[in-house]
Amino acid sequence: ALQRTFSIIKPDATERNLTGAVNAVIEGAGLRIVAQKRIHMTRQQAETFYAVHKERPFFGELVDFMTSGPVVVQVLEGDNAIARYREVMGATNPANAAEGTIRKLFAKSVGENSVHGSDAPETAAIEIAQFFSGNEIVG
Ligand code: CMP
Repeated sequence: ALQRTFSIIKPDATERNLTGAVNAVIEGAGLRIVAQKRIHMTRQQAETFYAVHKERPFFGELVDFMTSGPVVVQVLEGDNAIARYREVMGATNPANAAEGTIRKLFAKSVGENSVHGSDAPETAAIEIAQFFSGNEIVG
């Protein structure tokens, strides 16, 4: 079924001018970018976004990284978009990511791993709503 997912192109990727290269992989996989903006996340935004990871040892590092430079937040649309995008991103740790995936191609480490994608329909809806209003999403 047609579905939407939330994506972030992370600071390690924007810093290396890889926004277009990442978008080419996304579009090549049949996903449509129906909303997109470049922002510098505040600590508050990053802490809210990653609240489920608050107790993890890497939480501070994660918030520092996500606020270290510009990110590109996106809404992607397509058939089975949530699972499809996770497939296209590859494993969280680039060392385990399959050939041709965004993380295999571009990620530097498990922390600086170039992209984020929602893991389920409920989280996709919450994540999209944190960064986009309805009229910013043009399908
Ligand atoms: P993301 O999909 O954005 O969701 C949580 C993020 O935490 C994950 O991608 C990783 O970038 C980051 N992360 C997961 N494990 C570690 C780790 N061991 N050290 C640093 N960051 C991590």
